[in-house]
Amino acid sequence: MSLLKRVLIVSGSITAAAVLAIAAAGVWLWNDATVNTAGAEPFRTELAIPPLAKSRVGPDGTRVFDLRMRAGSREFLPGRQTPTWGFNGDHLGPTLRAKRGEKVRVRVRNGLPEPSTVHWHGMHLPARMDGGPHQMVPPGGTWTPHWTVDQPATTLWYHPHPHGATEKHVRRGLAGMFILDDDAASRLPLPDRYGVDDLPVIVQDVRFDGANLAEDRSLIESVGFLGDRTMVNGTLSPYREVRDEAVRLRLLNASAARTYAFGFPGDRSFALIGTDGGLLERPVPMRRIQLSPGERAEIVVRMNPGETTVLRSFPQDYGDAFQQRLNGGADTLDVLQLRAARTLRPSPGLPEALADQETPDGSDAVRTRRFELVMPMINGRSMDMRRVDAAVTRGTTEIWTVTNADGMPHNFHVHDVQFRILDVDGRRPPAHLRGPKDTVFLPSGSTARLALRFDGPADPKVPYMYHCHLLYHEDSGMMGQFTVVEKGQRPSAPPVARGHH
Ligand code: C2O
Ligand code: CU
Ligand code: CU
Repeated sequence: MSLLKRVLIVSGSITAAAVLAIAAAGVWLWNDATVNTAGAEPFRTELAIPPLAKSRVGPDGTRVFDLRMRAGSREFLPGRQTPTWGFNGDHLGPTLRAKRGEKVRVRVRNGLPEPSTVHWHGMHLPARMDGGPHQMVPPGGTWTPHWTVDQPATTLWYHPHPHGATEKHVRRGLAGMFILDDDAASRLPLPDRYGVDDLPVIVQDVRFDGANLAEDRSLIESVGFLGDRTMVNGTLSPYREVRDEAVRLRLLNASAARTYAFGFPGDRSFALIGTDGGLLERPVPMRRIQLSPGERAEIVVRMNPGETTVLRSFPQDYGDAFQQRLNGGADTLDVLQLRAARTLRPSPGLPEALADQETPDGSDAVRTRRFELVMPMINGRSMDMRRVDAAVTRGTTEIWTVTNADGMPHNFHVHDVQFRILDVDGRRPPAHLRGPKDTVFLPSGSTARLALRFDGPADPKVPYMYHCHLLYHEDSGMMGQFTVVEKGQRPSAPPVARGHH
């Protein structure tokens, strides 16, 4: 054999070996990318219910809450302590609750070793009370935002929002619910005994690395961190005993990147009664409800005496098999087991009408803006704390057209307002997307038109945020800033907050 021939054979087989190795790694990653825990969760631990936050009412009628962020640890896995962060405790936070018309004040103390913030996701409030990246609280510091609750009864939440570090802070456990009530909703015959037939369900995607919560991200997971199981209210493999015929679940997707399609085995139907910002016009029968990170849904499930069922996340359609698989769309996750008692207290049927919608219909919109999402940018720009991207006039309605022009799923969240989805890809949204929303899921290639009304107050100096709520994307710069100004006023450059990097 000539030398040349030998060289060719040897190098040829090296190339073939390399190709094989890459293919094998690809197959391994591909198979590894699908998670299925259906039927595999032992459901051994009773679901924890976050306590209702204590509050006191001051002489001027203000309801005052205290929240302290701190480090701690929690035994998620038997016999092992996992380092965590929490509000007023080791992990997660208490449920705040206030009524429409009430003045609230929260004393936020930062007991963490680094700066953070607390943002009131979904709340209509002045920009400087919003808790975004411009309201940093240094370690040892206190920040005391206050506002008047003026929006319909709903399920909101709170979490840190330090620019570039939101994922880390939320995933370590800094998240809690903020429930709002109003008179009209309180009069409806809905399950409303907190922790009894009205359950907070904070769903988080986790993976353990020894005793620690894993923080790494697979190279092929473009959405960011995906876990291999879920936790509800900080409980792994949770069950809950139900003693009423109807149970209301306040679902919150507090995961970093995972989008869920919640439902029950056997295609049991349930009623969707509320979305991010409040009750729907009327209950909508559903078999699945899709929630991307940050979104909430209130559902009512009817139980039969003695039966057991499981809240499960099913595979979903992202319109593209490849990214669906790589971004968690093909996964099945058992979330929460519901065990009905042998005898159940009777619950009334659901009312036919729930709430009048307060979101704008867009007919009085004064302008349209376009937002194009391509990781890690919105409209070709990445987040800059000193740049205000939009100034909206107080008291006006705008239409925002948001397009996911990327090859991966995103969502779009706007601070301060609840909006109405006018259409998705040119079609009237399905019934479950007609209620008040502050976050909308956008699979690759889709466009949603939103109607938003900015009721103020105006503050040309302090911006609100809009962003993708997949936390890795948000931290990477898929965020922009808008201010609410009086007619003719110009926004001023925001002062750079302490702790900004
Ligand atoms: Cu829940 Cu700007 O975020
Ligand atoms: Cu928010
Ligand atoms: Cu995104």
